Amino acid sequence: MNDPFPLLVANLKANKTWGEMSAWLDIVGPSADKFPGTIIVCPTVAFLAAANLQIKSANLKIKLGSQDISAFEQGPYTGEVTASQIADLCQYAIIGHSERRQNFAESNEVLTQKVQNAQKARIQSIFCIQSDQTPIPEGIKIVAYEPIFAIGTGTPDTPENVQSISQKLKAKGNCAVLYGGSVSAENVNSFLQKDLIDGVLVGVTNSLDPQNFTKIIKAVV
Ligand code: PGA
Repeated sequence: MNDPFPLLVANLKANKTWGEMSAWLDIVGPSADKFPGTIIVCPTVAFLAAANLQIKSANLKIKLGSQDISAFEQGPYTGEVTASQIADLCQYAIIGHSERRQNFAESNEVLTQKVQNAQKARIQSIFCIQSDQTPIPEGIKIVAYEPIFAIGTGTPDTPENVQSISQKLKAKGNCAVLYGGSVSAENVNSFLQKDLIDGVLVGVTNSLDPQNFTKIIKAVV
């Protein structure tokens, strides 16, 4: 992976119309220029193509990620979006978010399949784990530690605990470790100042509103 750290990932989940997404890029774009690391926004896959065009034509310093990819490579799987179909449109894919594990019963086997498909298509997986006991498929270079109690609750984990979890994860395999769960402009630096935390993943609490997300960018710059 050649993109600079820290990674700042916005997971917009199943929110926004295309008009709202386009406005989001317009508002966040200018502040992204000065960000020292890499900003990655993950909208619905339905918007990846249009967002990609907008980012290129406005020359924005923003990368794209998908929120998921299919466990299938191709074929008779109505409704699925495969890794090779989006490989030209985004560089990253979130895989194994707790909302997918819970709402769509995604097993470790299915998630491993997704990771393998991403690897084949040269998409970088951002693999979400909910604790340091969550199995991590082979070859993962970016892990996002996202404890369920912290997602959308306004109660983040402590930077000290995330640092110690990162230490365990990095001892098992060479990977970047991101933290996700109630990250805000007020607390983002407490995480990024830890030497073993390589970025943050921001869900709807502070990424949906482009002004809030811009505040996070400006807090780090
Ligand atoms: P949050 O969500 O920032 O709204 O807590 C994090 C996530 O779901 O990835």
